Order: sequence, then structure tokens, then C-alpha cells
Amino acid sequence: MQLRNVADADVAGKRVLMRVDFNVPVQDGILGDDMRIKAAVPTIELLKQKGAAHITLMTHWGRPNGVDESLRTAPLFARLGTLTDTSNMDMLENLRFNAGEDANDETFAKELAGNHDIFVNDAFAVCHRPAASVVGVAKLLPAYAGLLVQKEVEEISKALAPEEPALAIVGGAKFETKIPLLTKLLESYGQILLGGALANDMLKARGMDIKNSVASDTAVPAEMVADSRILVPTDYIWQDNKIMDIGPDTAHHWATLLATQKFVLWNGPLGWYEKGFASGTDTVAAALGNSQAHAVIGGGNTAEVLSKLHFDPARVFISTGGGAMLELITKSTLPGLEPLRIA
Ligand code: 3PG
Repeated sequence: MQLRNVADADVAGKRVLMRVDFNVPVQDGILGDDMRIKAAVPTIELLKQKGAAHITLMTHWGRPNGVDESLRTAPLFARLGTLTDTSNMDMLENLRFNAGEDANDETFAKELAGNHDIFVNDAFAVCHRPAASVVGVAKLLPAYAGLLVQKEVEEISKALAPEEPALAIVGGAKFETKIPLLTKLLESYGQILLGGALANDMLKARGMDIKNSVASDTAVPAEMVADSRILVPTDYIWQDNKIMDIGPDTAHHWATLLATQKFVLWNGPLGWYEKGFASGTDTVAAALGNSQAHAVIGGGNTAEVLSKLHFDPARVFISTGGGAMLELITKSTLPGLEPLRIA
């Protein structure tokens, strides 16, 4: 996919409107992993080097219903200020305080476009949302892809046509939402390892009593139940009659499978990570670190968890996108990328 590149844009003396995704975790007012904020810095610095007169940043944060004092963007902009020079810049208030954002309301998009000269989209993680700040403004101003968006598209495109042998690891929950992804992956991946609550659904469909483990209500398609390329754990860590993680034999077996792959796609942790069930994910992640495989990792807290392992960035790409990454793999494009495409 060819996108209009911010590196080719004439920005000297111009007022730039830049969409970022600073939707970072926050607890009790303390910001968590700031990977998404760091990821916007190269484009900001490029715009400054090229002589942009002013940069207006805009992001959503969380899913507020109207104004939410705890989700004002000032702390996000302050964190950015610890990473780069923010003079001649400002940041709009949380876009989702205005219902026009998610509704892709034209009046709101016009308000955002305001007196800006060009629009730069560097918010890969929200490109699957047809919002006013993603799609609406891109139709009102000359629109360019930021460096992060370009890199994400380039790397995730490798996962669409992976070098073989290729293996996918898919964790998380809600089997029904992952069916299109699994269908797509079965076209080009030799094996798919299922973890998290997705594995519970498959184990149940294959006849195991998963007791009180978390599971979906949706039935797993029969052809997937019968497909031997979809692997499930063979031992488990239980707590209160619930499967909380893959067991050590499975972790060891999956670690050996990684050693022979050329490409690995990983989305979602293998156990209930937030509750401390991390050993399966950590063992398999360590094996990925020691392998020669090129890898693309993303999806909610997977990136946060695995980015702590300091993989070689030349070999392992950690996407800032969760839903956006999955939708790009499944549909080969995203609403936010369409207005940036070179016709
Ligand atoms: C994300 O965190 O995946 C993006 O920021 C999109 O957020 P959303 O799922 O609330 O639209």
C-alpha cells in the first residue's frame, strides 16, 4: 500500500494538524506505558526540521461519555514535553469529549481543520475508526501519513504475506471477534497457537471439560475445530476451576516450535496476564527472543508486556495498534489509511 508520505510534504511555514494516538493506560492519575507517545516523536521532530510554523496535536483518550475530568489531555502533552521540544505546539482537548468525533460529524471535522494548512495522520492505532479526526479532516486538508503510520503499514504488510515457515500466536478473548482473523491466517500460516480464553473455546469445542474457565457463547466453526494446524495447550495452570495459563509442557513445546520459524505474528497474551499468570507468555517470549524469526507483535497489552523484553528492533516489530493491527491483517486496509493512499 502506497501512502502520501509526510517526508515528501512541503511543510515550511505551515500550520500542521497532527492526529496522534496517545490512548495510553492510566491508573489513579499515573500514566502507564508511554510507547504510543514516544512513537509520535520522530514525525514531530521531522515536521520541526522541515520548518513547520505550528503543530496542533489531537488524540482521543479512553472512551469518555462527554467531558471526563480525569481524561483531559494536559498530562499527555506534559509527558510528550519530557521527550521532545514542544514549543510552537499545542494539544487539543480529548476528541471524544465531543460526540462528533466518533460520529465522524462534518461540522466537528471542519472545526478541527480550522486554520490548518495540512493534516498528518500518525495515529495508526485508531486508523480502524472512521472518526472525524481520522477520516473527516483527511478529506478537508491535504493529508499525509506520518512516519509511524508508514512503518506500521510496512511491517504489518509483511505479516500478510509472511516468509515461510510462519507461525501465528493468537491469545486474548472473544472467539467470535477473531474468526475473520483466524480464517485469514489459515491462508498463509503453517500453524496457529491459541492461548488465553480463545484456547478455552477451542478446547471446549474439541470435547474437553473446561469447568468454570472463561469462554464465549459463540460456537467455534466446525472446520476450525477439525483443523490440526490450530494448536491448543495440552496442560494448564488452574485456579478455582478456571484455566489461567498454558502449562509448562505446552510452553516448552511452543518454545521449540518458534526455533524453526522464519516469521511469527503474535497478538494477545497466552494467560491471564493482568492477574499475574505470565509464565506461559514469558517462556514463549523468551524463545522468540532467542530465535531467528522476524516477528510482528501487537494487540492491547501484548505490546506492553513484550516490549519490556527488549527484542532486537531490526527483527521484531512491536505495533502500537491492537484492533487496528488485526483489522489491517484481516481486511488489508483501514478507513483511516484510505484518504492517505496514492491513487
Ligand atoms: C486502541 O487503544 O486500540 C485505540 O486507541 C483505539 O481505541 P478504541 O478501541 O477505544 O477506539
